[in-house]
Amino acid sequence: MSPEGLQEALKHLEIPADPNVLVGSNTADDAGVYRLTDDLAVVQTVDFFTPMVDDPYSFGLVAAANALSDVYAMGARPVTALNIIAFPEEKLPMETLVQILKGGLDKAREAGVSIIGGHTIKDDEPKYGLAVTGLVHPDRVVTNAGARPGDRLFLTKPLGSGIITTAIKRDLASDSDVEEITALMATLNRPAAEAMVEVGVHGCTDVTGFGLLGHLHEIAAASGASALISASDVPILPAARKFADVGAIPGGSKANLRFTEPCVMFEAGLDDTTRILLADAQTSGGLLIAVAPEKADVLVEKLAAAGIDPVADIGSINEGDAGTIRVTV
Ligand code: CO
Ligand code: CO
Ligand code: CO
Repeated sequence: MSPEGLQEALKHLEIPADPNVLVGSNTADDAGVYRLTDDLAVVQTVDFFTPMVDDPYSFGLVAAANALSDVYAMGARPVTALNIIAFPEEKLPMETLVQILKGGLDKAREAGVSIIGGHTIKDDEPKYGLAVTGLVHPDRVVTNAGARPGDRLFLTKPLGSGIITTAIKRDLASDSDVEEITALMATLNRPAAEAMVEVGVHGCTDVTGFGLLGHLHEIAAASGASALISASDVPILPAARKFADVGAIPGGSKANLRFTEPCVMFEAGLDDTTRILLADAQTSGGLLIAVAPEKADVLVEKLAAAGIDPVADIGSINEGDAGTIRVTV
């Protein structure tokens, strides 16, 4: 759903105060955090969606990697998960459901997470995801709100999954496009998160439905700062640029660009394709990390050692109107 829609709905609710709620629904963060003791907090998040690829096993892998990502983005370690499943049992064979669940289970196993239950409903269109519980020290929670002027910004996966999965739905993508994007979306943000926790960073979120610009806007707004990114430093999958040029653009990405436009200043000369790519709604995107400049080199080293390729230094956090973003060519 659109960011405006959710914010509007939340305005109508009175959310009771609880001192143990360290991160709640009022701050647009990736997951909620609740303090159990002085040195232990639980992190909870839920994510599920309709298939973005045809292969049910791949769908399970991607949906699970995506749901786990919100725990990693908080600097936490996921421990358990529950399956959330909607499935049209009259329309699709049981084997399809088995493959979706197998994908989820395999990805959870890779993450060291136990799936300990779940809930299934009958529905016209399949949907799958996880409710994930993680653990973190209450003092080491990484939120949207901690970025500071001077911080460097890093992105750990290239952009383009929204546009490429739209191209898949329109039958424009080749088998190798499908393989490449599936592997990228199914990649856990765990190694990147472990590197970031080891180094100690100021802020983080994962880039998902609101696109890079939408999520960067959230970090900047929550941190009371502005942001600057250089479009040519943002890694973008070549296939995504190709499909964007022929108009395979999801409605969500167009909505993201519209929603962020009032806060974004594009340098003249930035082409429309690049603008929409920067707003492209990602599935299971990478981590967007704000780190103190003196720690940037060691973060680059650790991310590279963790297999992140490319390690992209895309810009900085700066003094300025909270939530505004300047994009240079
Ligand atoms: Co998130
Ligand atoms: Co989420
Ligand atoms: Co977060």
